[in-house]
Amino acid sequence: MRILGLLLFPALSLALPAAQRPGDPAKGKEVFDQCGVCHSATTDEKKMGPSLKGLFKKAKMANGQKPTEANVMTIINKGKGTMPAFEDVLTQEEKSDLLAYLKTL
Ligand code: HEC
Repeated sequence: MRILGLLLFPALSLALPAAQRPGDPAKGKEVFDQCGVCHSATTDEKKMGPSLKGLFKKAKMANGQKPTEANVMTIINKGKGTMPAFEDVLTQEEKSDLLAYLKTL
């Protein structure tokens, strides 16, 4: 299935305009380099911020909201506490790739 997805993906991304193209988790992993200083993705270790391992499988985030795409995106865009806002730092494409990656955690 994974391989099939990889083969289909280039065709899909050509067919869709950038804004609607599904996020690419492999590219999102590179975007996550900017988050990795403060967030662990593979262990439960707390760095500056909470671990994001299993983020989308959690019932609630620290702010009590469900980890929906919209709620997670708001935190990324606006920042939270000592977390900086990424609204103007990441492109729309990078954000959608990042979300796709976070969903694999
Ligand atoms: C400078 C350190 C720092 C960076 C860089 C950073 N964060 Fe954070 N992040 C935090 C801190 C600290 C919190 C907790 C804020 C609070 O609850 O007040 C947090 C909270 C979060 C939460 C909520 C988690 C939960 O379970 O409640 C998400 C989601 C998140 N960050 C995603 C990201 C993503 C994605 C990036 C990269 C684009 C990123 N962060 C970059 C420090 C950072």
